[in-house]
Amino acid sequence: MQSSFDAQNAAVRAICADHADQPTPLLPILHAVQAHLGYVPDTSIGEIAYALNQTRAEIFGVLSFYHDFRREPPKLHTLKVCRAEACQAVGGRAVWSAAASAADNGGDVDVEAVYCLGNCACAPAVQLNGHTLGRVTPERVSNLVAGGNQAEVSS
Ligand code: FES
Repeated sequence: MQSSFDAQNAAVRAICADHADQPTPLLPILHAVQAHLGYVPDTSIGEIAYALNQTRAEIFGVLSFYHDFRREPPKLHTLKVCRAEACQAVGGRAVWSAAASAADNGGDVDVEAVYCLGNCACAPAVQLNGHTLGRVTPERVSNLVAGGNQAEVSS
């Protein structure tokens, strides 16, 4: 029986092989690994380094430079908190702090900063699993992250 570690490495090897003919394959490989696994596990760095004949440090340097690459499995839910000007002007900073603080306490919600959700008229705004919510308060966002309002979390 193949372990999840072996299965991940096999997937990474196949992705590397798919991109072998590209002149600069590292970023496409990292994107493909993330698209396939949901993140780029540290355990894949050796496979990618071997396939590209580069050092692990070189792969890690690129992987850690770009914030869009996840190095941990994604959580069940994603909450994007707007940190742009219109939201900042009406309490967005407190909403961000509440969300980040609640996320630090555990739960199944990834909290990400974004810079305008196109919902400035209803600032401060957040987006939960793709659903935009407006005029959120620190208390409401804390409940969202803590899973205190399952209807909103699962919608
Ligand atoms: S500035 Fe926050 S939604 Fe536009």
